[in-house]
Amino acid sequence: MSNQRDTALKYAEGHKKRFLDELISYLRIPSVSTQPKHKEDLLKAAEWTAEAMRSAGLEHVEVIPSPVGRHPLVYADWLHAGPDAPTVLIYGHFDVQPPEPLELWDSPPFEPTVRDDYLYARGSTDDKGQAFIHIKMVESYLKTSGSIPVNVKFIYEGEEENGGVTLSAFIPENKEKLAADIALISDTGILSPTQPSLVYGLRGIHYDFIDLLGPNHDLHSGSFGGAINNPLNALGHIIAGLKDVNGRVLIPGFYDDVRELTAEERTLLNKLPIDEPTLLNMTGAPAIWGESEFTFIERLGSRPTLDVHGIIGGYTGEGGKTVLPSTAHAKISMRLVPDQDPEKIKQAFRAHVRTLVPESISVKFRDDTHGSHPIVIDYNLPAIKAAREAYAAVFENEPVLMREGGSIPVVNEFKSVLDLDTVLMGFGLPNSRVHSPNENFYLPLFERGIATAIHFIANLARTPKL
Ligand code: BES
Ligand code: MN
Ligand code: MN
Repeated sequence: MSNQRDTALKYAEGHKKRFLDELISYLRIPSVSTQPKHKEDLLKAAEWTAEAMRSAGLEHVEVIPSPVGRHPLVYADWLHAGPDAPTVLIYGHFDVQPPEPLELWDSPPFEPTVRDDYLYARGSTDDKGQAFIHIKMVESYLKTSGSIPVNVKFIYEGEEENGGVTLSAFIPENKEKLAADIALISDTGILSPTQPSLVYGLRGIHYDFIDLLGPNHDLHSGSFGGAINNPLNALGHIIAGLKDVNGRVLIPGFYDDVRELTAEERTLLNKLPIDEPTLLNMTGAPAIWGESEFTFIERLGSRPTLDVHGIIGGYTGEGGKTVLPSTAHAKISMRLVPDQDPEKIKQAFRAHVRTLVPESISVKFRDDTHGSHPIVIDYNLPAIKAAREAYAAVFENEPVLMREGGSIPVVNEFKSVLDLDTVLMGFGLPNSRVHSPNENFYLPLFERGIATAIHFIANLARTPKL
């Protein structure tokens, strides 16, 4: 058994150059799920994923079209480990965030480039690079011993960054197909190349779009300013009414369902080896900020928050223009923690915004918003122990447990619909620049990621009760 594991490890080590070349071709596909012009690229990325799964030796590989006209899913499995062996459901996403602003990239986002052990490309860490780890884990087992010590099922999606509606609809309709003992996802990060970490909590999200409408066309601000309200000015007041200067969200009821951290968790989290200078250095921000009753580590993953992501309106071209714009728009999200409910938060947010909109302006909320539930996973689960031991074996250092501030909507759906807990086994770094220009994957972590996945699968096979 450990022989089977070790031959797989050796295979991965011996083929790392080819694995990298393959990942580079995966990253060349501009699979931006939120931009309609890339619809074909999502299909291409799905086909590419399916082909990679097929050549790794996975069976029943299918590209499943989206019934609602969005982006396809990819399913595959290998189920010959025997009825007593556990079944692992592996999830990843092959869509990526928009690469803009393009001028801030040192090399183009879809022309993957290696510099000093870092692979730069959109999707390198989030999530193609990490999703590819598990395909290569499977290949390493199947091309050596011809078998994997556990049953595996893969479900990869192409619209995680865009609300994941196709997968959300697919899960409840395919419970049997997706049935498993545990889920496995690599789409998070570790603290440093030498300090692995296991994420046991993710925040949820409610993402909203506001449109403010004033006069029915742009006006001369001299002729009308002062008597006709300006939607951009109104937007400023509305935004100011959402959150105070210390970071407390002002929406009535926003904190009602926030579950307090237990004393044990507080101790655990505040022991994490991250300090303020590191955070400042990492981000380039001039100072730490936020709710003073909570440590910054608690604020990062365990407290809810609200952020404005974009404001659209008025004249932003060169030179001045004395215009009273007809409309103003904002994109705003709230990060949620247990037991906040995204639907309830959406209602509370919209009700509060309505109270902040003056009579002189009308407001519309868009329908294409998305939400996801927060999740906290029991870090004493046997599968988490198997993952801790896998990290420890490869990194020669015990992983720490932490909560992440980001959201992976499917984790809660696995739990609530399939009754599956998820092991979040990430390999990103704090400076991987996910969602940002110069996104990168630290290549030693691509290799250690495959090794950790190989160990994890071997450990799981020895875990009596998941
Ligand atoms: N992989 C991220 C989630 C993540 C980010 C985990 C940072 C750990 C650290 C995922 O792809 C993501 O970006 N999710 C979105 C979800 C949203 C669009 C519904 C997010 O968190 O913004
Ligand atoms: Mn991701
Ligand atoms: Mn992402």
